[in-house]
Amino acid sequence: MTEIASEKKPDTPLEILFVDDEKNVLQSLRRLFIDEDYTINLANSGEEALEILKNNPDIGLIVSDQRMPGLKGSEFLEKSKEISPESIRILLTGYADINAVADAINRGGAYRYVTKPWKDEELIQIIRDAARRYLLLKENKRLQEIIRKQNEELKRWNTQLEYFVQEQTIEIQHKSEELQKLNEDLKKNFRNSIFAFSGLIELRDKKTGSHSKNVAELSVKIARAMDLPDKDIETITAAALLHDIGKIGIPDMLLLKDFEEMDKVAKHEYMQHPVRGQTAVDSVEALRPAGILIRHHHEWFNGFGFPDGLSGGKIPVGARIIAVADFVDKSIRNPEQGSTLEIISGKIKTGAGTRFDPQLCPYVEALIKEVYSKILPHGKGGTIEIELHVDEIRDGMVLAKDVKSGTGLTLLPRGTVLNLKNIHSLKRYYELDPSETGIFVLVER
Ligand SMILES: [Fe+2]
Ligand SMILES: [Fe+2]
Repeated sequence: MTEIASEKKPDTPLEILFVDDEKNVLQSLRRLFIDEDYTINLANSGEEALEILKNNPDIGLIVSDQRMPGLKGSEFLEKSKEISPESIRILLTGYADINAVADAINRGGAYRYVTKPWKDEELIQIIRDAARRYLLLKENKRLQEIIRKQNEELKRWNTQLEYFVQEQTIEIQHKSEELQKLNEDLKKNFRNSIFAFSGLIELRDKKTGSHSKNVAELSVKIARAMDLPDKDIETITAAALLHDIGKIGIPDMLLLKDFEEMDKVAKHEYMQHPVRGQTAVDSVEALRPAGILIRHHHEWFNGFGFPDGLSGGKIPVGARIIAVADFVDKSIRNPEQGSTLEIISGKIKTGAGTRFDPQLCPYVEALIKEVYSKILPHGKGGTIEIELHVDEIRDGMVLAKDVKSGTGLTLLPRGTVLNLKNIHSLKRYYELDPSETGIFVLVER
């Protein structure tokens, strides 16, 4: 831009070419303009004048006599137009040469004609006007060239700008993708940590087996059936997996007993676990919403539960869902009570409005079948469980009990359908960390 703006106006004197076959005419023309600020070129013929023009394309004014041997003035002017199209052409002619004048104007592009003999003052004025016109046209052209170059520059800048914007957009997109991936990794790590914690609870309380995972599975199914938002479902998953994390602090003796078998002191101790659970997760900010559900998973719909005796809608919906899923899984783990799907559904119906939120019951009934039908006997007939050696299990068999390693780690939950892949990993675990029992599977009665 600066380069163009600094272009200067040309300050060399204007060049004029006079063409006449009479030397004295040329001399008198030179004399006439001696005081004017022009550079004067003289030629004796049209041919000579064309040569001068070829070597000097900057000549601004061409003044030619018409009557010359060889090229006539109008013919010369026409040819001069090809060499120096921007020069201003003037024809000097006698009164009788009206045809020549017409040719000079029409074909030679002459600006005007001057009759011979000319009046000096008049010719000076005509040349001055022509010179001004030439300089104006030249200046106009120079300015237009500047504008053209500036436009080009502007176009170039625009293209560059577009390119930069595109480049930036692509970079931002990449960064955002990276960030999204990092976020997903973080979320995955977070979920894995929750699973790991949940595994710890199961290690601590071997009696519960895969209780937390089952409660989470059923709770999520209920929440989805109720069309709860994804964020709430995520909170419910975390809370269900960790709902009994407060039991880690309970003495071993207590963990082996059912609630009904506990004495008053033991019951009091047991009833602390929801609050202890909430406290345990409270230091992880992202788990605080789940902490609230953990606190209230033993509340009853009629307000008779613990720890806060909340009732109805005051109990968070996630906690109401976990409460009923917790009850279902506990009932199923109590085979001595002879729990069939029908019996458990009956218990839920009975508890609707007292222990459980009545709104949830229809969902629960439909979903228990989905989660547990493989491992629960249906009334009379149904299935029985048998114990097999790890080498006897086969593809397609259904686990009647959780499979645990010798040190108590749950390897596969009850209800899992065996396939070649999980049979292979079970055999491996049984070698590394052998269990004292076999594997319990269901067979038709
Ligand atoms: Fe609990
Ligand atoms: Fe529980």
